[in-house]
Amino acid sequence: MKITVFNGSPRGKNGNTNRIVESFLKGAEKAGAEAENIFLVEKNIEHCRGCFNCWDTTPGKCVHKDDVEALHSIFLASDIVVLASPLYTDNITSILKKFLERILPLVKPNFEYVNGETRHVRRYDRYPDYIAISNCGYPEYSQFQVMTRFFDRLARETNVELKLEIYRTMGELLKIQHILLNPIVKRYLKNVERAGEQFVRDGAVDEKLLRKLKEPLIPEKMYRDKTNAHWDKKLSRL
Ligand SMILES: Cc1cc2nc3c(=O)[nH]c(=O)nc-3n(C[C@H](O)[C@H](O)[C@H](O)COP(=O)(O)O)c2cc1C
Repeated sequence: MKITVFNGSPRGKNGNTNRIVESFLKGAEKAGAEAENIFLVEKNIEHCRGCFNCWDTTPGKCVHKDDVEALHSIFLASDIVVLASPLYTDNITSILKKFLERILPLVKPNFEYVNGETRHVRRYDRYPDYIAISNCGYPEYSQFQVMTRFFDRLARETNVELKLEIYRTMGELLKIQHILLNPIVKRYLKNVERAGEQFVRDGAVDEKLLRKLKEPLIPEKMYRDKTNAHWDKKLSRL
């Protein structure tokens, strides 16, 4: 199984999203997957001009000569694409969104009508299914409601399945070095690694592990209070 991650965090390798991704890939590789971790922030990606040349002039090819054509090849050669992004303004980052708008050449302009809704017809026979990985700064899982809906709609539109979603609240805790927090983060990342391993081995992650991955790292109120105290201290030094 070839798994490719397209990570839309502006922090790239050093981001909290990547901490989760790396653990997931570690488990996936243990179970025999081949993994590639791509940081979109390091790529030259123009925004879609909306010219439709990729449909009506050079079918399947975009007018832009940037890094996206090479990324298309990697995308199509994957069995699973992990769409990874921190939660920004309740959704994926503009970096990942810009890339996703550029996959338009991978479908044809023609419409098909499936299950009561219209979508574009595939250009190629084989497309990767998706996994979504994200983290956010707020403590409640409900913060991901737009993102989960977005990935669900994207999968429908691109005619693939959204196989797994891993969303981490209190994501900024993942990078903090603290004697009490370190074992909690370590345990969480170990569970993410298990999820990667299970997914590759069984094609899914069991309910119990999925529930564990959603548990708050620390109590929500404690997180709010500690975060406020952290900012008050920091800002008092200005
Ligand atoms: C511009 C901006 C918008 C953000 N919007 C949200 C948000 O809507 N909800 C939330 O819980 N966290 C939000 N965050 C916090 C990030 O999701 C959080 O810092 C995350 O850990 C960053 O992940 P990364 O290190 O992978 O980039 C936002 C951060 C920034 C910089």
